[in-house]
Amino acid sequence: MATFTLPKNSKIKPTGNVHKAGGGRVKAFKIYRYDPDSGQNPRYDRFELDLDQCGPMVLDALFKIKNEVDPTLTFRRSCREGICGSCSMNINGKNALACTTAIEDLKGEIRITPLPHMDVIKDLVPDFTHFYAQYASIRPWLQTVTPTPSGKERLQSPEQREQLDGLYECILCACCSTSCPSYWWNSDKFLGPAILLQAYRWLADSRDEMTGERLDDLEDPFRLYRCHTIMNCANVCPKGLSPAKAIAETKKMLAERVI
Ligand code: SF4
Ligand code: SF4
Ligand code: FES
Repeated sequence: MATFTLPKNSKIKPTGNVHKAGGGRVKAFKIYRYDPDSGQNPRYDRFELDLDQCGPMVLDALFKIKNEVDPTLTFRRSCREGICGSCSMNINGKNALACTTAIEDLKGEIRITPLPHMDVIKDLVPDFTHFYAQYASIRPWLQTVTPTPSGKERLQSPEQREQLDGLYECILCACCSTSCPSYWWNSDKFLGPAILLQAYRWLADSRDEMTGERLDDLEDPFRLYRCHTIMNCANVCPKGLSPAKAIAETKKMLAERVI
């Protein structure tokens, strides 16, 4: 049987720096640290915080650590209310947004790592270059061939507009794609649940006039059909969306088109 070992410089040192805290309600955070410029292997640092002195969300804890303990801790965030999608990370084994994950809902020591199976730029910041290139590849904008009704918008009925519910809310956090086993192993060719949900968002838009071309582009054994309906994507989405359903609808459109 084949055995695999990680390259030496990718092994995570189990313990790095430890920062103790006193106080009444102490909670420990074990945080993945990696600085490619240091030439060192990644490590876990352990930070203790007094929860009576900290805001309620995991993002509050990261700020507390960065502002008061270790300013080199690196992570992305912007809106702090589940809108921008930039604070996605793996928290106690599940991909989530740090700003909408309450510390008190997490038992024991809280382990925080970057989104899985992406290259890491530094600490909790993954490299989204490939993900965004895949997003661009589906041409995520309204495409039309007929002229816009003069002086008018392209109107939709309430029913047509409803078809976009469950799709337009996606914040491109990549929690779903990076929890999808098919995406882990085939992300060079498989678009993954986030991008496929976005692709279906335009297929479902009554105003778009490039449906045929969009379907042609998806009809590929890897780009679309690497989805095996494992459903991790729907279980993990912080906005409660179901990329798996969008993928199923896309497959249905393709099947009906062939007939
Ligand atoms: S349903 Fe498809 S896209 Fe979603 S996690 Fe499973 S394989 Fe990935
Ligand atoms: S479908 Fe959900 S988990 Fe996936 S990118 Fe969009 S918001 Fe994030
Ligand atoms: S900071 Fe914007 S989603 Fe968390």
